Amino acid sequence: MSENLSAFAYLLASICFIMSLRGLSSPVSARRGNLFGIIGMVIAIVTTLAAPGVLSYWVILLGMLIGAGIGTFIAMKIEMTSLPELVAAFHSLVGLSAVFVAAAAFYEPAAYGIGTAGHITLGSLVEMSIGTVIGAITFTGSIIAFGKLQGFLSGSPVTFTGQHALNALLALILLGLVYWFCSSESVTLFWVIVLLSCVMGVLIIIPIGGADMPVVISMLNSYSGWAACGIGFTLSNPALIITGALVGSSGAILSYVMCKGMNRSFFNVILGGFGAESGGPAAGGDADKTVRRGSADDAAFIMKNAGSVIIVPGYGMAVAQAQHALREMCDLLKAEGIKVTYAIHPVAGRMPGHMNVLLAEANVPYDDVLELEQVNRDFSSTDVAFVIGANDVTNPVAKTDPESPIYGMPILDVENAGTVLFVKRSLSPGYAGVDNVLFYRDNTMMLFDDAKKMCEDIVNALQAM
Ligand code: TAP
Repeated sequence: MSENLSAFAYLLASICFIMSLRGLSSPVSARRGNLFGIIGMVIAIVTTLAAPGVLSYWVILLGMLIGAGIGTFIAMKIEMTSLPELVAAFHSLVGLSAVFVAAAAFYEPAAYGIGTAGHITLGSLVEMSIGTVIGAITFTGSIIAFGKLQGFLSGSPVTFTGQHALNALLALILLGLVYWFCSSESVTLFWVIVLLSCVMGVLIIIPIGGADMPVVISMLNSYSGWAACGIGFTLSNPALIITGALVGSSGAILSYVMCKGMNRSFFNVILGGFGAESGGPAAGGDADKTVRRGSADDAAFIMKNAGSVIIVPGYGMAVAQAQHALREMCDLLKAEGIKVTYAIHPVAGRMPGHMNVLLAEANVPYDDVLELEQVNRDFSSTDVAFVIGANDVTNPVAKTDPESPIYGMPILDVENAGTVLFVKRSLSPGYAGVDNVLFYRDNTMMLFDDAKKMCEDIVNALQAM
């Protein structure tokens, strides 16, 4: 393929990636966005393979088959609730591949057209170093994030005196080593930089607590994009440069949006020290306080006599896979002339857009699904808030208790509704490990059960009425 033609094809692929991001910004166009992403990736791969200099198509094909096989197997097997862990694991591979590509270019510069061994162009050395440092940090940082989310490492922040000073010192040493490497092209220095960056990746992520992991994952996503971008310069591959920059900037924007959703500053998250053990304590609740328990029949009666119901889904709905039964329940209520809408908190569940995806899967009309800002005022004029598997995102201590780890996080004001129905299995706290004061309020009724089972029972009760 001629150089002009391949440049044109890479440009086409990049446009597809931009269209893909645009499509993914709304559930309505998400499928189209995915399709653009696939088309862009196919164009990029075919163009790369058609470039002169490919030594063995068989080795590449074998690698693609193994990679695609593993990827397909994992994608089919993975639970929706474990996606953040999976994303962290995949980011670690992006980081590692950036290091490997940089190493390959460093050992065989002539093959990459960036000079000869010992005489690599300065620009390429700088790009290579940036890709290596960010790639190695992403590699180990993502492994720690994966471990924290998967539970084989403690979700609690690991902090010690002088931690930030040590990180700053390490960053300065790395900067010095990169300068030295660019002037000496020393093999030993290259691997010392890799090693030190790996240590830095661990040190950056260990002080960050479980509750902040979603921001960390999207930050690492951003890092992996910038690493790919740096390597794109080394390989003179415009598609990789543009794609890397797209991933890098969209990851950074997502981190910002999530920080806003939790009302935390980005630096506050990155400097760490916040967040309880992921998953929260198993048992919870205050033994001295009493709660009002209800049954599916009670819930059906209350909602059938309501004029309006707002559904507030959370992580528990995802765990129980209750979205289909919930939709059925809402259809029955709508058939009775009751106004039903869904309120989505920006960090409900365990990943951005988690609830939107589940509701879309159950064919809930997009127009019924409202964001926090659109719906929050409606609670005070709503008869029933039906909170299904959500907890932290409704907890008013976020507004009242400056000592609380979720203080400042905007919440859905379900407490203002006439009656609040909470579907969950116990009084256990949510992700942030904070008891929810709403459970003990007079206008709250606790519906203790698995979310799917409770919705099915309410459906039966509504049909029997
Ligand atoms: P949580 O506060 O984590 O509460 C979920 C509740 O679901 C738990 O209290 C649990 O209570 C209940 N539950 C679990 N399994 C259930 C089942 N099978 N049936 C019924 N209930 C079940 O969830 P949330 O309100 O969605 O808040 C999200 C939290 O996660 C926030 O703190 C947020 O910062 C954090 N976070 C968000 C993200 C993103 S980006 N969305 C990523 C990671 C973390 P029981 O055990 O009593 O049933």
